[in-house]
Amino acid sequence: MDIILLGPPGAGKGTQAQRLQAKRGMVQLSTGDMLREAVAKGTPTGLRAKAVMEAGELVSDAIVSALIGERLDGAASNGAIFDGFPRTGHQAAALEILLDERGRKVDHVIELAVDEEALVQRITGRFTCANCGAIYNFVLNPPADMQQVKDGTVVCEKCGASDFRQRPDDNEQTVRTRMAEYRAKTAPILPIYEQKGLVRRVNGMASVEEVAAAIDAILDG
Ligand code: AP5
Repeated sequence: MDIILLGPPGAGKGTQAQRLQAKRGMVQLSTGDMLREAVAKGTPTGLRAKAVMEAGELVSDAIVSALIGERLDGAASNGAIFDGFPRTGHQAAALEILLDERGRKVDHVIELAVDEEALVQRITGRFTCANCGAIYNFVLNPPADMQQVKDGTVVCEKCGASDFRQRPDDNEQTVRTRMAEYRAKTAPILPIYEQKGLVRRVNGMASVEEVAAAIDAILDG
């Protein structure tokens, strides 16, 4: 089963994709993570993407479609979770071709419906484990087993590491640009999938567990 998680920045796509990957053996294909990896390694793609990402704008369709194409075959057995892709009409068309060439198709488009103002708090409070990539929030979603050790260090509940990162694009100004990009370029692709009867809407303002249960109900339904 191949599914798309669609929603504005901070809607919870990465949080739910990580959970689906752990629970169902599906493979998370996050173009944001792939681009951040390319930036960290200083590859030609990373060098081109860095300033665009820091401004909160969209990287070119050709670059992200190529990244997805490179990883798709590795996500064949239990299916892929497209997280942050497609984001434009061109990317939606590219995905259809990539899947069709492999005899696959989009089974569900799960839209995480959220209140944009609440997302600013989610995003500015986000931090991730530098070791395993687990996603947390200082206020809304701290590590469940948060252990305060002697020097005040917080420990990741998934892997026990104590090294965390905040993204350079997780500041209020950039978040506003990212949301405007979503409204202008990504939200318009929803009708393409609505016409095909693929869109299922989930209340993304519910708790992480409630959102997860709603997604499970769709996938098992
Ligand atoms: P990307 O990394 O895809 O960022 P995004 O779409 O802006 O989404 P986020 O990662 O910010 O949010 P999320 O929905 O995954 O939320 P999360 O689960 O982390 O893209 C970054 C940049 O890369 C783009 O701006 C662009 O430049 C470029 N890019 C990437 N893909 C591209 C493409 N296809 N085309 C062109 N350019 C591309 O949760 C957020 C926070 O909320 C966390 O702190 C979490 O703990 C918390 N949280 C999650 N769920 C809940 C809940 N239910 N209740 C309370 N808190 C919650």
